[in-house]
Amino acid sequence: MICTNIPIMLVYNYMKNKKLSTVAELLQWATKNNRAVCAFNVNNMELIQAVTSAADEIGVPIILQISKGARNYAGMPFLVGLVESAIQSVKIPIALHLDHGDSFEICKECLDAGFTSVMIDGSHLSYEDNITITKRVVDYAKKTGASVEGELGQIAGIEEHVVNEKSLYTEPSVVADYVKRTGVTSLAVSIGTAHGAFKYKAPNPTLRFDILEQIRDQIPNTPLVLHGASSVTPGDVELINKHGGKIKNAYGIGEENLAKAIPLGVRKINIDSDLRLAFTAKLREYFNQNPEHFDPRQYLGAARAHVKELVKRKLETFSQ
Ligand code: G3H
Ligand code: 13P
Ligand code: ZN
Repeated sequence: MICTNIPIMLVYNYMKNKKLSTVAELLQWATKNNRAVCAFNVNNMELIQAVTSAADEIGVPIILQISKGARNYAGMPFLVGLVESAIQSVKIPIALHLDHGDSFEICKECLDAGFTSVMIDGSHLSYEDNITITKRVVDYAKKTGASVEGELGQIAGIEEHVVNEKSLYTEPSVVADYVKRTGVTSLAVSIGTAHGAFKYKAPNPTLRFDILEQIRDQIPNTPLVLHGASSVTPGDVELINKHGGKIKNAYGIGEENLAKAIPLGVRKINIDSDLRLAFTAKLREYFNQNPEHFDPRQYLGAARAHVKELVKRKLETFSQ
């Protein structure tokens, strides 16, 4: 059984003298260079090592983000400890961010534990309730100097326990009011990207760059965030299916197409599903090709190397 009951203050004391960047700093870097920072969802050592070593080789900053599901899987102290080890091993700036925080309490807990950024996802609430909870998190985050990401509109797909059948696009006419009244650092927008590997019913979905442009015109100084930005890498889906998997009707938007959002103000790009697909694809291939192997270091090492190559490609496309 995994021990998750190390006192959180102990973890905080360990973290607080170390140099995690805030997401705000990284977004400033992205704005200045007209690039985006990639935010990768991580939940184990191999993923953290793959992502951080790839970024170190490319030489660009990254955001490591942790979902409620990741916390439930690995436990906060393990995740924070792994990130702490990672920041000591690389030269590039790294921020630690809570992905899709669904309550004030979870945001507070992560901020207290040393996270340098949180997302409060009030997108399922009424407009006024979204503003109230987001402002409360922003006020608390000021005490630690951390950044806060809010969301307006609803992104399709499965995110934590919430399933959205369809996108509810962000309404450009309210974004300026929302940013002013909440004080968020950045805003996640819904323009047609979707969470998960089964985002779309057919290939070649379109993004609403027209809506993105209208949003950018309303809040030109607020960095925008694209969730659901995995491309559902066709090569990895093929590899999974070739080696016994059954991933059918999985389509995404190509990286070059997603990159068109960057000149329109997108400064943070969230990627989770592509890491999962890459990890799984290599494991399946490895087990098929090496039926006599049983050392986790062999197959996890191969999966980690495969994820690292994927991350390098993403960083070259979005951040370099
Ligand atoms: O947007 C949601 C992320 O992909 C996190 O997914 O809750 O399964 O860790 P998870
Ligand atoms: P994907 O499922 O497209 O990787 O999206 C991840 C995400 O938005 C995390 O917040
Ligand atoms: Zn998301």
